[in-house]
Amino acid sequence: MKIPLLDLQGQYAPLREEAMRRVDEVLKSGNYILGPWVKRLEERIAKLCGTKHAIACASGTDALILSLKAIGIGPGDEVIVPTFTFFASAGAVSHIGGRPVFVDILPDTYNMDPKAVEAALTPRTKAIMPVHLFGQSADMEPILEVARKRSIAVVEDAAQSLGARWRDRPAGSIGRVGCFSFYPTKNLGGYGDGGMITTNDDALADLIRRLRVHGAKPKYFHAIVGMNSRLDEIQATLLDLKLDHLESWTAARRANAAYYDRELRGGPFGTPVVREGCFHVYNQYTIAALARESLIEHLKTAGVGTGIYYPLSLHLQGCFQDLGYREGSFPVAEEAQKTSLSLPVYPELKPEEKEHVVKSLLSFVVREGRA
Ligand SMILES: Cc1ncc(COP(=O)(O)O)c(C=O)c1O
Repeated sequence: MKIPLLDLQGQYAPLREEAMRRVDEVLKSGNYILGPWVKRLEERIAKLCGTKHAIACASGTDALILSLKAIGIGPGDEVIVPTFTFFASAGAVSHIGGRPVFVDILPDTYNMDPKAVEAALTPRTKAIMPVHLFGQSADMEPILEVARKRSIAVVEDAAQSLGARWRDRPAGSIGRVGCFSFYPTKNLGGYGDGGMITTNDDALADLIRRLRVHGAKPKYFHAIVGMNSRLDEIQATLLDLKLDHLESWTAARRANAAYYDRELRGGPFGTPVVREGCFHVYNQYTIAALARESLIEHLKTAGVGTGIYYPLSLHLQGCFQDLGYREGSFPVAEEAQKTSLSLPVYPELKPEEKEHVVKSLLSFVVREGRA
């Protein structure tokens, strides 16, 4: 049996005919960028997230950059970011001249530790960026409270959490602005790059719409400098097609996760912890394994693909060495980078494949006497 970490071709097969028809329709239309499909996708994502606005852009990274710029973050400004996340969360801050201030994560959810946020505040703090990692919302209440007290913005990095909820509030609608990615491996993944920004703030939405087209308003008139970060019609129509399936795909991911939970909980692997009030969409199903490297080899031999998210916390990345962190600065994240391992949880997994994943994990324990 071969079970990859993710099976994008398997997902494409049943969509192929309609996808081809739509691509042909777009190509014949002559309207390729920021056209009616983008508008429709924006409206549908805004509805899904319960926000007044959704603004499409070229990637999740650009969604973060555009949001931070629109909020007014610039050189010297600090943004509090968890150190255990995809690079873009902090890269976006640095890219516009800001300074990422890292905080540790909670050991059970891998999400930002709210207590650490309070301790990381300085007079230069302009925003907090909780990342809803692996498909589960960060612990938002204390984060929102700190932000309210200090009148600073909350920028949600919801790249891995479209459809997730925190106390019935959809990810992307909780802070001042929410950022999503349509990178192919995401739970709503395109066939290329794409991103989306959600907000209830009219003025901010207007500014972001300008910033994504070089600051122009009206066209060819530039009171501000922006960038080129537009979504194209082919991506938008294909994302629109896939969006019809998001709910059932999320249900399938959750059922797969529930199966793994049942089979693995109480055993030697750390299984995902879902906080009360959180609706997890399992963009990843991530376990903790002390003997990770030999487990990966064992699973590989059994035909099971895995992924390491993430092998190096951001405070230890070469490009951030001038920020003054060192090994030991964030022990929980440093432990997670050694033990976290993501398993196949994609919606198309068949029952016998899930069983095989579990059997392979358990046979490792029998063989090694440890996990
Ligand atoms: C947490 C997080 N933030 C930001 C991004 C950036 O998104 P993109 O790859 O679309 O630029 C990603 C995904 O790649 C992500 O997982």
